[in-house]
Amino acid sequence: MSTVDYEIKNTSELRHAEEAMRMGELENMRPLPRISVHAFCESEGLQRVMERCANDRRMSKVSLRITSGGTAAAANMFSSTPTPNLIIIETRANSASLLAELAPLAAVCDPSTKVIIVGYYNDIGLYRDLIRNGISEYMVQPVAMPDIMGAMATIFVDPEAEPLGRSIAFIGAKGGVGASTIAHNCAFGISNLFSTETILADLDLPYGTANIDFDQDPAQGIAEAVFAPERLDEVFLDRLLTKCSEHLSLLAAPSLLDRAYDFEGQAFQPVMDVLQRSAPVTVLDVPHAWSDWTRTVLSSADEVVICAVPDLANLRNTKNMLDALRKIRPNDKVPHLILNQVGMPKRPEISVSDFCEPLEVEPIAIIPFDIALFGNAANSGRMISEVDPKSPTAETFSQISHIVTGRVAIKKSRKGGLLGLLKRK
Ligand SMILES: Nc1ncnc2c1ncn2[C@@H]1O[C@H](COP(=O)(O)OP(=O)(O)O)[C@@H](O)[C@H]1O
Ligand SMILES: [Mg+2]
Repeated sequence: MSTVDYEIKNTSELRHAEEAMRMGELENMRPLPRISVHAFCESEGLQRVMERCANDRRMSKVSLRITSGGTAAAANMFSSTPTPNLIIIETRANSASLLAELAPLAAVCDPSTKVIIVGYYNDIGLYRDLIRNGISEYMVQPVAMPDIMGAMATIFVDPEAEPLGRSIAFIGAKGGVGASTIAHNCAFGISNLFSTETILADLDLPYGTANIDFDQDPAQGIAEAVFAPERLDEVFLDRLLTKCSEHLSLLAAPSLLDRAYDFEGQAFQPVMDVLQRSAPVTVLDVPHAWSDWTRTVLSSADEVVICAVPDLANLRNTKNMLDALRKIRPNDKVPHLILNQVGMPKRPEISVSDFCEPLEVEPIAIIPFDIALFGNAANSGRMISEVDPKSPTAETFSQISHIVTGRVAIKKSRKGGLLGLLKRK
């Protein structure tokens, strides 16, 4: 064995010994939520540390990728694929070059993505610069497994950490307008297009169709959650979820009439809280009703989408809903509007412009009536983008998925120079 080999072996043994001593630091750490993490490692040391994180039980819900390479490899990869919730990058750049080195990555990075840099310079000025520019943490090598775990926990688990998940509520201006169909297709789109862990919660307990639409026969997910708030935490929630596709889980409705479903105004708040802690995106399929609890759900969701078909009753209801929601969400964006089932043969319709003019909102999407496409998808328990990926309607669902998660607006605003590009606080 050469001296160099011996030294390397010795360093890694030392690292292990130190880590073993520090494992206690992790004892009280809560599991990480359903986030996606991509680590770019320049050294074998960091690669090994990341592999050891991957095997930790607190990482079981995390989708972790480890790639060798640094900032350039990351920028290159994310120029064609969406960025995950967290990027960990190792770099040997110093304070003179690191910000410039990060610029190409910043240009392709979604503002919601967090970045941890693992560097080699113990330089407080550099640290401050990076934090000021929206980098979540700068760690100096040698880092050990508890350091990385701790940094991830600070961002995603700590009580003071900013909330992880965003919720998007879909509701119809009337029954049967396709609000659930749109919610399900968007939940699938968001999970699939951005590889983001998404939970679809079907709040229509007696009649929900998410179970049928995804060809699943799950237990009474949402009912158990809402009727047992005292038991509800991330672990209990896990047991109530049904996996629909790689990144999409369903909190299904019982769709049974064996009991009445009357809820207090705040009944769904514990579920919404735990959902927000568990996954980056929650899609809420809210039934067409105006009760205390639906109003509370709509007032606490991050985004509201009203779905309507172009007739008079829908116009009146949409106007009333927009007015009411503006009052209960005075500091939020106006709800989005989607016009659905447009161009149904023989049905007299209000034109899109006449529908939208009195509402003073532009629809984010107009979905044509297409009985064959929607009927086929519903009957086969598949989504539109699976049944006919090349159809204009599949493209429309992709656009809606971008808009409701803020991915389109963000692209437009990426013009503000390096600071603007990096800043995400
Ligand atoms: N654009 C469309 N063209 C044709 N049928 C549609 C369209 N959108 C939805 N549907 C159908 O309308 C019916 C009602 O949809 P659903 O999503 O259950 O409505 P809601 O949740 O508003 O009550 C379903 O059979 C669905 O397949
Ligand atoms: Mg519905």
